Parts: sequence; structure tokens; C-alpha cells
Amino acid sequence: MDIIEAMQKRHSVRSYLDKPIAADLCEKLRSEIAACNAEGNLNFQLVTDEERAFGGMMAHYGKFSGVKNYVALVGKKTDDLQERTGYFGERLALFAQTLGLNTCWVALTYKKVKSAFSVGKGEKLVCVLAIGYGATDGAAHKSKPAAQVSEAQNAPEWFLRGVEAALLAPTAMNQQKFKFILNGRGVRAKSGGGFYTKTDLGIAKYHFEVGAGRENFEWE
Ligand SMILES: Cc1cc2nc3c(=O)[nH]c(=O)nc-3n(C[C@H](O)[C@H](O)[C@H](O)COP(=O)(O)O)c2cc1C
Repeated sequence: MDIIEAMQKRHSVRSYLDKPIAADLCEKLRSEIAACNAEGNLNFQLVTDEERAFGGMMAHYGKFSGVKNYVALVGKKTDDLQERTGYFGERLALFAQTLGLNTCWVALTYKKVKSAFSVGKGEKLVCVLAIGYGATDGAAHKSKPAAQVSEAQNAPEWFLRGVEAALLAPTAMNQQKFKFILNGRGVRAKSGGGFYTKTDLGIAKYHFEVGAGRENFEWE
């Protein structure tokens, strides 16, 4: 499965099978996490066989079951931490999908188990990415039309592909409050206000890059 296919097949999955992630896949995930941390100046950590984060009432309320593995999305507190977390967290989610695993971004419905990962001085846990073998593959979300999340005149193919890819991205409460504005070879991405919209923007930008092709445009 390539990354474009992974984008199309990825849906949030909240129920997982009672099956540990295979050792070779764990190794691949850890090495991709290390690459994201190096490129994004982040401190993402894979947590395996940890049942407490999703064992309580909160997770039950959020309709999660069987979550025993997750990535703690931790990074230095900077103005762009939310967006960077979105960008690199989604790179991981799509990578996991190519390995045959399922994921779900989670900001609210879990418990922070402090002993399971480390949050250094000046760092923050933004949210977690639940990961494992899904009981199902999830289902496609309802989506806004492209015209509502983009502004462009005589848009080239690559721009349309980028917007289409961004509309496949997960967003908190499926709010899709992002906008892509075309200006020649330049693209400006902006987020609306609200809950986790900066993280959503980073996620949508990663999808846009994959769909449009990084060689076709520059971020403004
Ligand atoms: C930043 C962020 C936070 C999220 N937090 C939660 C959460 O706390 N609980 C939950 O059940 N889903 C959460 N989600 C999953 C969204 O509800 C989901 O991505 C959205 O409905 C779109 O569906 P899809 O991921 O299947 O495409 C979150 C998604 C994002 C991007």
C-alpha cells in the first residue's frame, strides 16, 4: 500500500483486537518515530501494552475499546507545537496504515498515564495517536465540498489533488476548518479558530503535500 492509498483507506478506528503489534512492525514504527522526532524537533514515543490510558470511563464514553498501544505526541512548547504535531503525527498515522495498522487521533477521551512516557522540562503532551489492529477499518467521514476549503482561480491539477487529499484528513470533531489559498506557485494554508484547529491544520498540510506533490508548489 502506498501513501496515497493509505490516505484513502485511513479512517479513525476506536475498537481494536486483542493482538500485540508484531515485533518487526514495532521496530519500523520506532524508526519512523525517530525520523519524525529528528526532523520535527519532537519527542514522540511509542507506548505498547499499556491498558490504563484507555481503560477508564472517559475512553468508554468516547467509544474506545481494546486500545493498548498509542503514540504519545510530545514536543517542546513553542508557538508552532500544535501544527508540527499535526504534520508529523499524521505522517506516522499514514505510515502505520501502510503497515496494515489502524489509528485514531485522541485529544480528550483518554487518561494521561504519566509513568508510560516522558514529558521533559519545557515539553507538552499535545494528544495521543491510538494504534493497533482494528476490529474494523472504520468508515469514511462526511466531507465539506472543495470550494468551501479552498480559494483559487484556474486551479491547476496539483492544487485540486492537494485539496482533495486534505479533505481526507482527520480533524477534531470532523470540523475541517482549514483553507488552502492559491497564489501562482504559492499556497497559503490557514486555520479557522476553535478546538485543536492548529493541529488539524498541520494534519491537513501533510495530506495536501502528499496529494499535490511537494515539487509543484511552495508554502507561503
Ligand atoms: C486533533 C484531533 C483530536 C481528536 N480527538 C478525538 C477524541 O478525543 N475522541 C475521539 O473519539 N476522536 C477524536 N478524533 C477523531 C476525529 O473525530 C475524526 O478524525 C473525525 O471525525 C474524522 O473521521 P476520520 O478520522 O475517520 O476521517 C480527533 C481527531 C483529531 C485530528
